[in-house]
Parts: sequence; structure tokens; C-alpha cells
Amino acid sequence: MSRRKIIQRDNNGNTNNNNSNNGHHHHHHDYNGSPGTKVLVVGLGQLGLPVAQYVKQRGFDTYGHDISTRAMENAERMAGIKRASNFGDFDVYILCVSTHMPDDIYLPYADNLMAVARRISEEADDGALVCIESTIPLGTARKICTMFNHRLHVAHVPHRWYVHDQERYGVNQLRVAGGIEPCCLAMAVQFYSGDLNGNAFSSNNSRIKGSLGIPTHPVKSTEVAELSKTVENAHRYLQIAFAEELYIWCRLNNIDFWEMRDALNTKWNVNILEPRDGIGGHCLPKDTRMFLNSSQLIKSKILSAAVEVDMDYRNYKKFESQATTTTTNTTTSLKDSNSGIGKNVSIPV
Ligand SMILES: NC(=O)c1ccc[n+]([C@@H]2O[C@H](COP(=O)([O-])OP(=O)(O)OC[C@H]3O[C@@H](n4cnc5c(N)ncnc54)[C@H](O)[C@@H]3O)[C@@H](O)[C@H]2O)c1
Repeated sequence: MSRRKIIQRDNNGNTNNNNSNNGHHHHHHDYNGSPGTKVLVVGLGQLGLPVAQYVKQRGFDTYGHDISTRAMENAERMAGIKRASNFGDFDVYILCVSTHMPDDIYLPYADNLMAVARRISEEADDGALVCIESTIPLGTARKICTMFNHRLHVAHVPHRWYVHDQERYGVNQLRVAGGIEPCCLAMAVQFYSGDLNGNAFSSNNSRIKGSLGIPTHPVKSTEVAELSKTVENAHRYLQIAFAEELYIWCRLNNIDFWEMRDALNTKWNVNILEPRDGIGGHCLPKDTRMFLNSSQLIKSKILSAAVEVDMDYRNYKKFESQATTTTTNTTTSLKDSNSGIGKNVSIPV
């Protein structure tokens, strides 16, 4: 059955029963998805796999695609995600591809995402919804929509999934949502939240039966959604960098950092984070750089400094661990390394 026909019939007012083969799910108050709505998740890595699994659990007809045959096979085997033979005939596309350089996870990169968008632009049916969940540089969602010529709806719903606490910070936590046009946002809010937000922003698009049951915080543009993600990670980056700098400061001045941190954190509005092994992981360094590169007119001074502080901290930790492994007496060696670092070792501060 052609999707275009379904839209036409819907415009004539027969909105409810054309596309749904599940008797329980024919009014808008249902939160569960319906197998009458076909969803394709592109990119089945650390984020995309749990997303596809969740979409499938909600009852949507769920397919996947990944350029990595290993990722695709894994999704089929572990989660029963169906392999998409092409990009045509879907109601919703969820994009979860990586957005870092292939050989440097700290550098932002959007070529893979644009390649996926190009393929969708060639194969998708009119009126489908494209939800970008990957973290993207400012302006990317609009670029993609321009490529589609608004033949498809485009929304950016950046993800906050957290690998170390999927119970609390998994797929279904509150998400910021932005659309290119109001119809894009309305359709995205319908798909993600259904009636969870009240009906204020939701549409009644008959392509989508049921919802993911994920609360959304709608914003007026995809740009705000894009920035909200990179800035929330930049904010986190800044807080960790401050802890790293304090750590070095304390070592150089013979103050017990951990004792001082405990003391500081007794203040009701202070929360000094722990400096650990440098600001690593998939997201914080890359997203902070995305934000740093997001404007020709202003480049955050405080974040540029934070990136330098993180490099200093990594160098300092290397120096510290070398110093501690060369003697058996940790206390003395730390003390030596403290006085040594001020005099001989160049740490740019
Ligand atoms: N992992 C997290 O905790 C997390 C949290 C929030 C946001 N994000 C964002 O989500 C996105 C994906 O991150 P991830 O951790 O899942 O990365 P990942 O590297 O684990 O997975 C990305 C997947 O995309 C696939 N891919 C790349 N190019 C493709 C293409 N052209 N077509 C099809 N598939 C393609 C890769 O093969 C890989 O399987 C990134 O933008 C990341 O910043 C990740």
C-alpha cells in the first residue's frame, strides 16, 4: 500500500483506521506505538541499539541500518531488529550515527550524517518524519531540511542517554525537541510524547499511531535544540576542568585537594566535581569543540582555557604517576614532584 495514498485518505478525514492493524490503538491518547507505524533507526552503535530496542518494545514496526555489518548483525541477534533493505516506505527515521572523525573521537564530523540524509532524501516518501538524535554542529538540521526541500519533516531531539546509569538516564528521559517548521515540531512531539505534554505542541498526524512515551521540552528552533546539547556538555566540561585546575593548584601549594573539596562541598550551592583521568569519553571533548566552533563572531574564552587546563592536567597526572612509581615512599615522592613541577617541569598555566 502506498504511503502517499494513506495521506490523501487522511486528508479526507478518515484518520483513524486506515493504517492501524491494532484495535487497541486507535485514538490519540494511547501511549504505545502501533505496528502500523514503520520506524527506521540508522546507526546501531552504543546509542542507536538501545534506541531501536526501546522503539521496538513500544510496539512500533522497527527496522535498523548500519554501515557496520557487525553492528547490524548484533542488533538482529541481540534485539530482533529487522534489517532494512532500503530507505523507502518508513513513517519515521531516527538518526543515531556517530558524529566524530573516524580516526579521532574528540573531533566533530558530520559527513556520515549528511550521507544518510542524502539517501533518505532520495528514497523516503513525502511527509515522513526525520528525527536527528545524534549530537550535531549548529545549523546541521537546517542544512538537512534544505536538502529535503521540506518534503520531509525534520526535528532535532538530541539524546542524553548515559551508559553508566541506564536505569535513570536511559532512552526515555526528558528530551529537548526542536523542529524546522511548526509542523515538524508538532509531529515530533506527537511521536515522542503523544499526550504526555498536554496537546499544546502535538499534532494529530495520522502517519503516526501511538508514541514513544518520552516527555519532551519543545523549543522554537532546531538551533536551540542543537545548542542545548553541546552547551550542556560544555558546561559539564567546564566544571570538570575547574576541578582539574584546583587539583593541580593544591598539589603545587601543598594543600590536600580531597580534604579541601569535602570542605567546599558542605556549602549548599557548591559542587566541586572529581578530577579523574582527564576529560575523556565519547561526548564531552567533542561536543565542547562543537560549541567552540559554532560561531564566527565569538569563541568562548573560558572554554578555550578549559581545554588547555585539561591538557595540563593530563600532563600533570602522567608526571605524578612517573614520580610515584620511581620511589617506594609515596608521601616524599609527591612532595618532591610538587616542588619539582614548579621549578623544572613546564606546565603552561
Ligand atoms: N553514547 C552515548 O552515551 C551518547 C549519548 C548522547 C548522545 N550521543 C551521540 O549519539 C551519536 C552516536 O553515538 P554512539 O555512542 O552511538 O556512537 P557509536 O560509534 O557507538 O555508534 C555509531 C554507529 O553509527 C554507525 N554509522 C556511522 N556512519 C554511518 C552511516 N553513514 N550509515 C549508517 N550507520 C553509520 C557506526 O557504524 C556505528 O555503529 C553521536 O552523535 C553521539 O555524540 C551518544
